[in-house]
Amino acid sequence: MRELVCSVDDLTPGQAHPAVVEGRNVAMIRLKDGTIHAIEDSCSHGSVALSEGEVSDCFVECWLHGSRFDVATGVPASPPATAAVAVYRVEIEGDDVYVDAATPINF
Ligand code: FES
Repeated sequence: MRELVCSVDDLTPGQAHPAVVEGRNVAMIRLKDGTIHAIEDSCSHGSVALSEGEVSDCFVECWLHGSRFDVATGVPASPPATAAVAVYRVEIEGDDVYVDAATPINF
């Protein structure tokens, strides 16, 4: 079931933002091309918040050891992380951003 998380303007392009959706920690990421993604806000390597990492192109980088995760697939593109993080469905209606964090779309 989806939940209203924020408005589009709350999300700065090229940055990650922490949110709690349905009790789960989610990193909300608006890329510079305007697309908005929602991924599990915990690195699969060490439980570090990915929302505290840098965003570049379509990746968010874990600040602790540098693994870069594709925000659309959750798959790490560089070590040391080897496991994907969950990716959640995002729906935009007008200015409202909804996320369904009940069921990841990539597992
Ligand atoms: S804790 Fe994220 S790469 Fe190690």
